[in-house]
Amino acid sequence: MDRYYFDNSATSFPKPDSVTEAMATFARECGASAGRGAYAEARACQDMIALCRSRIAQLINAEGPERIVFAHNCSEALCLAIRGLLNTAAAGTHAIATAMEHNSVLRPLNALADQAGLEPEFVACDGSTGLVDPEDIRKAIRPSTRLIACVHVSNVTGTLQPIAEVISVARQAGIVSLIDAAQSAGHVPLDVRALGADLVAFPGHKGLLGPLGTGVLYVRPGIEEILPTMKEGGTGTVSEDPRQPSTMPDKYEIGSHNAIGLAGLSEGVAWLLERGVASIRRHDEHLCRLFLEITDSVRGLTVYGPRDLRQRAGVFSVAVEHLEAGDLADRLEGDYGVLTRPGIHCAPLAHRTIGTMPGGTCRLSFGPFTNEAHVRHAAAALREIATR
Ligand SMILES: Cc1ncc(COP(=O)(O)O)c(C=O)c1O
Repeated sequence: MDRYYFDNSATSFPKPDSVTEAMATFARECGASAGRGAYAEARACQDMIALCRSRIAQLINAEGPERIVFAHNCSEALCLAIRGLLNTAAAGTHAIATAMEHNSVLRPLNALADQAGLEPEFVACDGSTGLVDPEDIRKAIRPSTRLIACVHVSNVTGTLQPIAEVISVARQAGIVSLIDAAQSAGHVPLDVRALGADLVAFPGHKGLLGPLGTGVLYVRPGIEEILPTMKEGGTGTVSEDPRQPSTMPDKYEIGSHNAIGLAGLSEGVAWLLERGVASIRRHDEHLCRLFLEITDSVRGLTVYGPRDLRQRAGVFSVAVEHLEAGDLADRLEGDYGVLTRPGIHCAPLAHRTIGTMPGGTCRLSFGPFTNEAHVRHAAAALREIATR
């Protein structure tokens, strides 16, 4: 039976051939660690990492490549931003996020509440669309608010949040903004300069088409002055200084890089730059329309999240009456070769918002290699299971 990959929200698959080829070539022909040798291979590794950084900066229109800080995944990038800003904040400091956040935002904020008396507030979102109203964020601001965090695209409902408005609310109040772009980077055009975002975290291994073990934190110029390090160690630069460099991006990147991962990531981003994220977004919108049309009004089948394509991306939570999410995922895989993710998707408040706690939903998520035939197959499978 053919296998249909619908778990691009977890990690993208397949990757472009150029990604796997670059990783194999790096392992076979280079293998050196950047900044750790004066020989040609070490210099080549350094150049490769510099190129990866500038490609990512170009993709999101960052002010320069040094604004791109590498991490091992999006969770690590988010944790650096949240803990960096709030670890030393006084008890009673207030932070705002939305009810659609992933545990990668909820958990650091709640841990800081337990450990340091932070007061996180998760602004409620619409139960049908999952959308946050930026006005509700504005109303939640207190004199002690230090952070406004917002997910760009929900990993449960595909909801595309109005982040431009959310960032503008934060800027008007002089509060640092953090965008979780885990499900949007590479899927939806992202212009950090036009948005005026302070911090944007995203994985390299999802929409950017790189391998697992890669992630990024974009840091707006000047924000490094108020964002302490969370980890310190060797950078291969200014070795005579026993203190962490304050220059970007060395300030936040410690130890040997995941060079083989960055070799792949660089080609993933090159692939996106060539196609253009705007055209990938159009393809995704087309697939969303098709999926919604085929699954529309099927008795016993619920598709969550916005129906308006301008408010969503290709991440769909679905449920079939009288069937547990895990059993639905098993049937989809066993009978149709459709690979999905059942459960709570690390986003308990999002599931509470749409009324799918405690069982959760079954999630199908699209990527740039998902095509019409895949979507027709998965949607027809859902229709059959629901009406059988
Ligand atoms: C919205 C959101 N934020 C953060 C993450 C964490 O990403 P990573 O797996 O790269 O740590 C995910 C992963 O699924 C996500 O969907």
